[in-house]
Amino acid sequence: MHFYRLCVLSLCFWWQANADSTWQDAILRTRQSTKSVTVDLTKRYQTMDGFGISEAFQRANVIVNLPAKQQREILDLLFNTTSGAGLTILRNGIGSSPDSSSDHMNSIAPKSPGSPTAAMSYVWDKKDSGQLFVSKEAWKYGVRTFYANAWSAPGYMKTNGNENNGGYLCGVSGKTCSSGDWKQTYANYLVKYLQFYQQEGIEVTHVGFLNEPEFSPSYAGMLSSGTQAADFIKVLALTLKAADLSTTIACCDSEGWGNQGSMTSQIKSSGAENLLSTITSHSYTSSPGSPLSTTRKVWQTENADLQGAWQSAFYSNGGAGEGMRWAGLIHNAVVNANCSAYLYWIGVQTGNTNSKLISVSGTSYSVSKRLWAFGHFARGARPGAVRVGISGQPSGVQASAYLNRDGNLAIVFINTGSAAAAVAVDVKGGWKGTKVTRAWVTDNSKSMADLAVVLSNGAASVSVPGRSMVSLSVTE
Ligand SMILES: *[C@@H]1O[C@H](CO)[C@@H](O)[C@H](O)[C@H]1NC(C)=O
Ligand SMILES: *[C@@H]1O[C@H](CO)[C@@H](O)[C@H](O)[C@H]1NC(C)=O
Repeated sequence: MHFYRLCVLSLCFWWQANADSTWQDAILRTRQSTKSVTVDLTKRYQTMDGFGISEAFQRANVIVNLPAKQQREILDLLFNTTSGAGLTILRNGIGSSPDSSSDHMNSIAPKSPGSPTAAMSYVWDKKDSGQLFVSKEAWKYGVRTFYANAWSAPGYMKTNGNENNGGYLCGVSGKTCSSGDWKQTYANYLVKYLQFYQQEGIEVTHVGFLNEPEFSPSYAGMLSSGTQAADFIKVLALTLKAADLSTTIACCDSEGWGNQGSMTSQIKSSGAENLLSTITSHSYTSSPGSPLSTTRKVWQTENADLQGAWQSAFYSNGGAGEGMRWAGLIHNAVVNANCSAYLYWIGVQTGNTNSKLISVSGTSYSVSKRLWAFGHFARGARPGAVRVGISGQPSGVQASAYLNRDGNLAIVFINTGSAAAAVAVDVKGGWKGTKVTRAWVTDNSKSMADLAVVLSNGAASVSVPGRSMVSLSVTE
C-alpha cells in the first residue's frame, strides 16, 4: 500500500513536472528537506502599534450606507480577530471643508470667526463624514489606536484663504497673514475635535495636522517644511497638555520616505522631535527602505496601488495590486525600515481600482487578498508586540517574528517561490518550550484558513505552500 502510493506520486511528479499545480506542490512537499528556523527572543527590535486603514473623504459612508448584513460582514472582515483581518488602527480625516458636497470632509468650524482671537463657533454633527460610526464599530472589535489627521486647516486660517491648492498655516516661519497668526486657533480647533470624539467614548491616541505637505492638490492640503511644522508642534503640544488630553502628536505624512527624512531632520534641529510620539510617512514618491533617523516611532500611514484595475488575487504575475506584493511591502517596512505600523490607504470603497482592500458595488462586495496580507500581520503582531530576531528561513521565504504582551509569539512567513517550503521553528532566548501552536495560510484559494502544524521535539513544523503567506501562533 505504502509502496503503491509513493509510486503513484512519483509517476504524477514525472508527469506534472512542468505544471504549476497543487499536485506538484504536494509531491514536492514530500521531497523537500525541512529547514530549521530559529526565533531569538534576545534580539529585540521595535514595538509594534499595528496595521490599519482609513475611511477618510466620506469613504466611511460606503460602510454606513450598506444594508445591516453586508455592513456586519465588512466590519468583521476589517476588524474581527477570528474571522477577519483584525486591523488595529483607524486613520480618520479631520475635516476642513465648509460643506459636505462630493467627498468633502466637513469642518467642525465651517465659518471664520473673523480673527484668530475671536470666539470660534463649533458644530458637531455626530457623523464626521461617516467616520464616527466606523470608529465606534471598530472600538467594539477592540481597536484602540485612532489616528485623527487633518489634511489642511480650514481655509480662513491659511495664506491662500482656501483649504485646497496648498497654502500655509498663517503664522508659521516666513508666512504672515493680514488676518493674524492662526497657530493657536488651529491647535484649539484640533483639540476641540479630539474632545468631540472623547465625548463619544473614543480616545483618539494620535493627532496629525498635515497630509503630503510638499504637494498642492486641488483638494484639501496644506504646505509645510519641517521647520514650519515644528513651529506648530510646539503650540499644539502645549495646547494638548492644557486640555489634559493624552493624545500624542504625529507628523508629517509626507508623500514619501525621502521628504519625510528631510522634514524629520528639520524638526530635530528646531528642537521639536521630543514633542512627537510618531513620525509618519506615505510611500508614493519613495518607499521605506531603511530606518529614518529618529528616536520616535515610525509609521507608514498611507500606501496603495492607486492606478491598477481591481485585483483580488494573492499571486498572478507579480503585479502591483496582488496580495503577495503587499505582504512583501509590509514585511520590508517593518523589518528593514523599523516601522511600527503600516496602513493601507482605504479599507472599503466603491470603484474599480486597487486603492481599497474591499470593493463595494451596490450591496455586493469583493475582498482582495491584500486584506489578508494585512490580516496575517495584524492578527499576529498585536499592539505592544515587540519584533524579535528570526533566522534560517529558506531562500525566497521572508520571515518576521513578534512577541506579544500576552506571551503569544507570532511568526509570519511569505513564500515568494513557486515550490512549497517546509520549516521547523525553534525558539531560543528564555523560552520554556513550545506547547501550543496554530497556523493559518493565505494563497489564491485560501484566506487565513487553518493549516496543519506539527509539534515535535519542541519545534513547530509547517509546510508553507509556494506563493503563499503562512502565520504561526505559538505559546510556551
Ligand atoms: C468575530 O467573529 C466571530 C466568528 O464569526 C464572532 O463569534 C464574534 O462575535 C465576532 N466578534 C465581534 C467583536 O463581533
Ligand atoms: C527603531 O525605532 C525605535 C523607536 O520605535 C528606535 O528607538 C530605534 O532606535 C529605531 N531603530 C533603528 C535601527 O533606527
